[in-house]
Amino acid sequence: MKPYIISLGLLEILILKGTWAGSHSMRYFSTAMSRLDLREPRFFSVGYVDDQQFVRFDSYSESQRMEPRAAWMDKVDQDYWERETQMSRKAAQSYCVGLENLRSYYNQSETGVHIIQHMYGCEIFPNGSFKSGFEQYAYDGKDYICLNSETYSWTAIDPQAVNSKRKWEERSISEKEKAYLEETCVLWLHKHLENGKELLLRTDPPSVRVSRHSGPDGEVSLRCRAQGFYPAEISLTWLRDGEEQLQDTEFIETRPGGDGTFQKWAAVAMAPGQEDRYSCRVQHEALAQPLSLRWEPEAPSVWVIVGVTAGVLVLVTAVVAGAVILRRRNSGGKGGAYVPAADKDSSQGSDVSLIATGVWDIPFLLSTPKHSNLSSRLHEQFQDLLGTG
Ligand SMILES: *[C@@H]1O[C@H](CO)[C@@H](O)[C@H](O)[C@H]1NC(C)=O
Ligand SMILES: *[C@@H]1O[C@H](CO)[C@@H](O)[C@H](O)[C@H]1NC(C)=O
Repeated sequence: MKPYIISLGLLEILILKGTWAGSHSMRYFSTAMSRLDLREPRFFSVGYVDDQQFVRFDSYSESQRMEPRAAWMDKVDQDYWERETQMSRKAAQSYCVGLENLRSYYNQSETGVHIIQHMYGCEIFPNGSFKSGFEQYAYDGKDYICLNSETYSWTAIDPQAVNSKRKWEERSISEKEKAYLEETCVLWLHKHLENGKELLLRTDPPSVRVSRHSGPDGEVSLRCRAQGFYPAEISLTWLRDGEEQLQDTEFIETRPGGDGTFQKWAAVAMAPGQEDRYSCRVQHEALAQPLSLRWEPEAPSVWVIVGVTAGVLVLVTAVVAGAVILRRRNSGGKGGAYVPAADKDSSQGSDVSLIATGVWDIPFLLSTPKHSNLSSRLHEQFQDLLGTG
């Protein structure tokens, strides 16, 4: 699984070129799962550069080979695929041992289904130098052991993990990890970024809208929505009179838009009438300056049109005009006013421009791969499981 070291020349060239605006990462996520039938455990592994998957291996696939999942991977040579395939097959074998070992640490019977997950990878600064490495394992969905990337020592999160910790310390696994994470991983990340630069190094600025929503109990919230941006890293902040409002702000996790870009929103709650004290600040790599947006009550031009329409109708007949205005008001969105949202989170409770934009509120069929969020939950994985034994 771990790619071999490549020549140093690439690193120097890329740093000199200074091509990278933001931080980048390469991560692998592996899962090994035992089975109730007599088949071997299944081993599955995927590799990501930033938020883009680029390889995968599935021990149950017909070929049992590491397979490309990104177009730029056609630029690596055949040796790469041979190596990666061999290492993945080896990892699959070692995970069988790992599952056995962990089953015995936990005193579990042979009949259950158990899962080891492993996540590891590296992150680089915009200038291309090593920023951080990480490595974590989970067993049956619970944190098991992780590598402290400052000290390169293992932390047994679960009491049973002291077994693995001791064995790995005896074999100096963390020193090998350090060399991999700080050198090999970084070099390969550079190589992938170079090969896939059209996709990986592009930046798409967010388009941002602020909408207003009122709840059943009369409270009001402003929602700041950003969409269409790449990379996924973004900062949305609500300010009241220029001061950050972290406590009253609700965020959703950044999520994929389905077209390779990302979306996110942040909402802040307030008493009605306070809206003009708030502004939304948006920071993203593709923006030279942070954006600052406020809620704009419905566009006057819409009301002008409504007014003219009403006026014309009044000339025809006051009764009909009255009815039309009433209907327009009642249908809310058409008139340009916000519609009180019954369900704050539903896609319906938007203003007219959001409806026009449409895509804002389309629910996302694709969910963010869990591992795309570095700091959150554990995606554990594992690799050199020979060390577990
Ligand atoms: C394993 O579990 C069984 C049944 O719960 C128990 O009898 C046995 O003492 C346990 N063994 C260890 C080593 O904990
Ligand atoms: C790259 O940037 C990081 C953080 O900004 C800095 O600590 C590091 O010294 C830089 N490395 C090089 C080689 O310029």
